[in-house]
Formats: sequence, structure tokens, C-alpha cells
Amino acid sequence: MEKSVKFPKDFLWGVATSAYQVEGGIENADWSKFYPAGKACDHYHLYEKDFDLLEKLNLNVYRFSVEWSRIEPKEGEFDGKEVKHYRKMLLSLQRRGIKAMVTLHHFTNPLWMIEKGGWENKKSIFYFSRFSKKVIQELGDLVDFWITINEPLIYAKASYAKGRWPPQKKNLLLFLKVVKNQIRAHKKVYYDFHRIRKKVRVGLAKNNSFFEPFNSKSLLDRLSSRFAAYFWNNFFLNRIRNQIDFIGLNYYFHNKIKFPFHIENENKVISDLGWEIFPEGIYYVLKDLEKYKKPIFVTENGIADAKDVFRKDFIKEHLCQIHRAIKKGVDVKGYLHWSLMDNLEWDSGFAPRFGLVKINYETLEREIRKSAFYYAEICKNNSLICG
Ligand code: FCB
Repeated sequence: MEKSVKFPKDFLWGVATSAYQVEGGIENADWSKFYPAGKACDHYHLYEKDFDLLEKLNLNVYRFSVEWSRIEPKEGEFDGKEVKHYRKMLLSLQRRGIKAMVTLHHFTNPLWMIEKGGWENKKSIFYFSRFSKKVIQELGDLVDFWITINEPLIYAKASYAKGRWPPQKKNLLLFLKVVKNQIRAHKKVYYDFHRIRKKVRVGLAKNNSFFEPFNSKSLLDRLSSRFAAYFWNNFFLNRIRNQIDFIGLNYYFHNKIKFPFHIENENKVISDLGWEIFPEGIYYVLKDLEKYKKPIFVTENGIADAKDVFRKDFIKEHLCQIHRAIKKGVDVKGYLHWSLMDNLEWDSGFAPRFGLVKINYETLEREIRKSAFYYAEICKNNSLICG
């Protein structure tokens, strides 16, 4: 049966992006050489236009990242011009009554930092916290929510275990070292930020997936699935649970685990990237996060769907599952769709299209997709029809 469901009064509705994926013109990051983004969406120059879109879509929170390699292009040297650029962006959001959620680390690093050993080096904790301190000192009065690190395990896995992303290493020990340094860096930034500003809210964006045994009658499948869920969803959060004001959840995946660690999904419905669409999973992932007793924001959730055929139902079904979790007592404070616009999907390039807004990469024209108008109605009404 269809029924209208209402979200809590102060629920926040938004979208997320990250600097390297949308800004264009980033020359001093590790990704600049590995996978040049060129102009990307030229969000760096066109952000006012993009913020008009936020208003048009009735959104009241915008998540974006500040690019470390712009702000600190050389070790210990900060570029005032770039800091000012982000201040201007934040002031524009403030004028429009849109809250700002700022990510400090979204996969990219300055080249100099990588030359010094990157996240394998224990000094990364110092480098990252020095940069973060500069950012909060310069921008802190305009930021509502901080995300220290986006998807630490995805970064560590892709860059240090699978060898796919820069610095393209394949070494389990390095992977663990990187994770350890990320945990410490997060904690340090958490304490620094609370010392520097009173009412600061510091979180982290965690990519959590819904794990199930491939065969629920198999003890080995059940054990593998349990372990995978613990390691992927809980291990990192357990270590920072006392140094986090809210949890950011990025939800994309459902994994059926066959012993020992094979992912065997049914893939009944998949996105352009071949990722299975499984809205129910977000309900279980949110229920699992309840144990941390922290407010939760869905900081990313979205689909590569160039033809915009699945996105509307994707949004609807995920939001209905989120509402179900809220009704069961999970403290979800907001939903930020990935992404405002099409952008560089890392090593998959520009082909996957995650945007509510379509980008013409030749002309840089923006065109609002149909599904975005559907999302905009939900944001305006703070409610939708489920069932
Ligand atoms: C997440 C990333 C984000 C984007 C989406 C599709 O893992 O945080 O930058 O690429 O996936």
C-alpha cells in the first residue's frame, strides 16, 4: 500500500561532490599525473552557477572537499589565494542559506606529500593535521560539518592493496600501516578541531556495505560474511568511536559472501558500472550503525545511470528504507545524494554518470535530469510516497 512518509523536522537534504572530481585545473595532486581531470566540470569557476542549481533543487546542505594540493602546493607553504577561493564558496553558500559540509581528504594528496612517503609514512599524521589546522583557522567560522577523511578503507585498499590508484602499491603490510595512520590522523584532527573551535562537529565518511552469506545454510559462508562485515564496516569505526561527533555513511554495495571471501551477487538490477542496486541494504547498514549512538548522515548514495532510467526509483527506494530505519529509532539527520553533477569517476573516467545534473563536457553546460526534479520535490516537502 502506498503511503506518504514524513522525515524529521530538521532533516537535511543535499548533494555531495569532491574537488578532484569536479573542479578542474588541479595540477599538483598525485592524481594529476595518474589520471588528469583537465577541466572536469570547471566547478572551480562555475560554482555560483552550480549553487544556483542547489537552490533550484531545494537543497539545504552541500558537501564538497577542499583540495589539499591547492591550499598547500609546497610543503608548509599555504596559498592564500586558494584559501580565499574556498572562503568565497562558503560565503556564497551562507548567503543562500545552505549549510556546508567540508571534506578535508577525498582520496587526493599533494605530490610533495606522496614524495615524502604518503600515508605509509607516520609523518602523514603531522602533514594532514597541519593542513587541517590551517583550514579550520581560515574557514572554520563558515563550516557546519567537517568530514576528516572520505572512505579511508576504500583509499587504503585501492592505493595500497589492489595497486589500482596512486601510488599503486600492492602490499598488505603497507595497507595496514596506512589504515593505522589514517586512524591516528583522524583522532588528532578531531582533538585539534575541538580545541580550536567550540561548537565544531567532526565526522568521517565511511563506506559501509550490506554483507550476507551466499548460502545461509553454510556455516563457512556465514562466518566469512560476519568477518567481512566486521572488518569492512566496524573495525575502523570501533577505533574512533570516542573521537567522532557524527557518522557519515556512504552506501553503495550489497555483497553476498561465499567462503572464503568471494563476492557472488545475484545482480538482478545493476547500474552502468555493474554495481547491484539493493536499497534494502541501507536499512541494515543503518541499523548496524545504531550501536555507536551517534547521529548519522548519509553522506553519499547514488547511481551511475547515464540514461536516467533507474535514478528516480533508486532515490525513492533508498529514502523509503532510510525512513524505515528512522522509524525503528536510528538517528539519521540528513541525506546527501552522490552527486550534484556528472564528474570524474576516478580511474573509471568520465563515462559513468552519477549526476542529478548532466554535464556536457564540451560546452560545460549543465542540464537538470528528470530524476533531479523528483528529488527536489521530496526535499521541498520533507516527505515522499513509499510502498
Ligand atoms: C565513492 C567516492 C566518490 C564517488 C562515488 C561513486 O566511493 O567517495 O568520490 O566516486 O564512490
